[in-house]
Amino acid sequence: MATITVDDREIKVNDGALLIEELLAHGVKIPHFCYHPTLGKDGNCRMCMVEIEGKKRPQIACDTPVSDGMIIRTKSNGIQKVKRQILEMQLVNHPVDCPVCDQAGECSLQNYYMDVGLYESRLNTPKTHARKHVDIGSNVVLDQERCVLCTRCVRFTKEITKTKELGVLNRTDKSVISIFPGRPLFNPYAMNVVDLCPVGALTSKDFRFHKRVWFLKSYEATCNGCSKGCSLHVDHHKDKYKSDSIFRYRPRFNDNVNGYFICDTGRLSYKKENDNRDSFAQIKGKQSKYKDVKDRLCSLLKKYHGEILLLLSPSLSLEEMLKIKKLASVYDAKISGYDTCEYDSNFGDDYLKCNDLSSNRRGFNLLQIDEKIESLNKFSKNIKLAVLFGRDDIETIENYENIETKISINASMPKKPKLYDLYLPMMTHTSKEGSFINIDGFLQFSNSHVEYTLETQALLEIISDFLNDDISTCEEIWKVKLKKIVNNIELETVKKKSIKMSNL
Ligand code: SF4
Ligand code: SF4
Ligand code: FES
Repeated sequence: MATITVDDREIKVNDGALLIEELLAHGVKIPHFCYHPTLGKDGNCRMCMVEIEGKKRPQIACDTPVSDGMIIRTKSNGIQKVKRQILEMQLVNHPVDCPVCDQAGECSLQNYYMDVGLYESRLNTPKTHARKHVDIGSNVVLDQERCVLCTRCVRFTKEITKTKELGVLNRTDKSVISIFPGRPLFNPYAMNVVDLCPVGALTSKDFRFHKRVWFLKSYEATCNGCSKGCSLHVDHHKDKYKSDSIFRYRPRFNDNVNGYFICDTGRLSYKKENDNRDSFAQIKGKQSKYKDVKDRLCSLLKKYHGEILLLLSPSLSLEEMLKIKKLASVYDAKISGYDTCEYDSNFGDDYLKCNDLSSNRRGFNLLQIDEKIESLNKFSKNIKLAVLFGRDDIETIENYENIETKISINASMPKKPKLYDLYLPMMTHTSKEGSFINIDGFLQFSNSHVEYTLETQALLEIISDFLNDDISTCEEIWKVKLKKIVNNIELETVKKKSIKMSNL
């Protein structure tokens, strides 16, 4: 460790680490465009200048290792002037079209101008123009005029995806970011360049012009696109006279799971969440009242006591799995987690994406839920009622035609509705709270703050009504049961960070 002084405050830092990393870690505001924690330094934007006592000229913090006793100034008049001059250079050919820019409200250039810029423009020559709307592929649109040439996007395709679709063309004020002729941006993680771009040069075709960012509310959740369970920010908004809708998923930094990035499939999977909210209860494929279907289901559970099979999706939360186990014990039902649907041998790669598309298969291990096909075949012999939770693949069960009553409780409507006597919608993944264990054994909590205006309930509430108990929230289930199972970890701790489970 080393001790340095920053703006008259002493801080302990890692000796030899990059100054910008230590300053940011200690909450010191350092403007920067080209530096990114994963992509490292490039030294091209010069925004991160600081004064270091004993050095003649200001230094860039992203290329300066810290050493014991350093005295740093980040707010002196001299350094503010330097930053203002650099910003003025950055903005010489920038179109300053913030009112029509989709990045407005979350743009580093805008923020830095407000922090240290605030100068009157001295420009009286025409600006250099470049292309304003270049469709570079993979849902990404490039505005070359707004680019500050930080090269984060170029380095992402070079160092992370190794696909190298982007490059800097030409020199001086003619320099632009571009794809190569006939080679669009095309890789499974391409849309991360939109988050990486500190300005409005790269925007998402999917999100741009749909909502101003200051209207959006955000909460922390996890992706359920595959068993990696990447950490997400869910951005949502309720328009007047409309239901609360999700507008985008953004990656949430999690060193244990996904770092700073997510895949494009997971990023765009928010659409499914919005679509599923239109699901309606059904009896034999015909729309019916939610309460009627639920009451009928409840009486069927009583009628077939001891002759019931509960088939669980490996994407249910730990809380839901536990609640279903309780239901099984009360109605003397068999439980199985056998499934083949949530695999796709073409989806995975050696980065984040996994072939196992379920979001909590490890939960089956933790809660000892049987996943063997042999057990399912054995269980299904003498049953009269099959209830599928979070899935609609009744054909997985051998001789399913012989089962008297088949029911699906799921977020999306059954693909073959006629196969089910009853279908009851439940809240979607990001509309409910829950705990999930990813493929690497990390336990995470997924929040929800989307308002559900329809009568649809969360699965925990549905089962709680069947059981006639009042334990229907994650907090209560943790207190009663789950805390002990997960080695006495507090729910509050899981809400703050992902935790490696050792007993799986
Ligand atoms: S497009 Fe954005 S990320 Fe790429 S170099 Fe320009 S400013 Fe940087
Ligand atoms: S890798 Fe899997 S969990 Fe991560 S964003 Fe993609 S689909 Fe979602
Ligand atoms: S962040 Fe240091 S030069 Fe760009």
